[in-house]
Amino acid sequence: EQALQVAIDGPASAGKSTVAKLVAKRFGYIYVDTGAMYRAVTLWAMQHDVSLTDEAAVIASMQSLKISFKPGEPDQLVFANTQDITQAIRQPDVTNNVSTIAALPKVRTILTDQQREMADAGGIVMDGRDIGTTVLPHAEVKIFLVASAAERAKRRYAENIKKGIETPLAQLQAEIELRDHKDSTRKVSPLTQAADAVLVDTTPMSIEEVVTTIAEIIKKQS
Ligand code: C5P
Repeated sequence: EQALQVAIDGPASAGKSTVAKLVAKRFGYIYVDTGAMYRAVTLWAMQHDVSLTDEAAVIASMQSLKISFKPGEPDQLVFANTQDITQAIRQPDVTNNVSTIAALPKVRTILTDQQREMADAGGIVMDGRDIGTTVLPHAEVKIFLVASAAERAKRRYAENIKKGIETPLAQLQAEIELRDHKDSTRKVSPLTQAADAVLVDTTPMSIEEVVTTIAEIIKKQS
C-alpha cells in the first residue's frame, strides 16, 4: 500500500482536526494540525509583546520558535520549544487573533515550508485552510469539509463547555463567521475548495460517518 498525502481543508470548527486525527489513526498515518502552527505563532507573538500586524517583527520573533507535536489524548500535544502550549493556543484571545497572523505572507511562507517537509514522505493527514490548494497541491486525496455555521457554533459550544470556557452560542457563531470571512478574503492562500477536492457536508453526519466517508475515498486511491 502507498503512503498517501491526505489534505483536509475547510472553515472553522467544521470538525477537521477530530476527523483528521481518527482517519490518520485508521491508516497508521501521521496527523499534522496546521491551524495549531498558526495559533502557536500568534501566542508566541502575544507573549513577546510583538504587534500582530508588524510582519517583520513577527518573523523576527519566529526565529526563536520551534513548533513540534507529540502524541496525546484526547488532543495531540503542541509545543513551542519545550513549552506545552496545547491548552493555551485554544484560548479565545488566540482564536480571535490568529486570522491576523495568518494573513501575513511571510509567516505563511515559513510555515508552508515546514509543512511540506513534514508531508514529504507521505503517510500523512494534514488539516488546515490551504493544504489542497497551496501546501500540498499534488496530494492524492483532498477533502473540503463544511457544515452550517449554526451547527459549527453548536459543536464548538459543547467543546468549550467541556473545557470550562463559557462563551454564549450567538457570540461563538458570530466569531466563527468573522474568522471564515477573514480567512476566505485574505490575499494569500485564502480558504477555498481546490478544484479536485471532494466536498463533504458534515451538518447532518456523525463523526464516525465522516471518518468512514473519508476512509472510503482514501481506499479508492490506494
Ligand atoms: O484550524 P484552526 O481553526 O485551528 O486554525 C486557526 C486559524 O489558522 C484559521 O482561522 C486560519 O486563520 C489559520 N490557518 C491558515 N491556514 C491553515 C491553517 C490555519 O490560515 N492551513
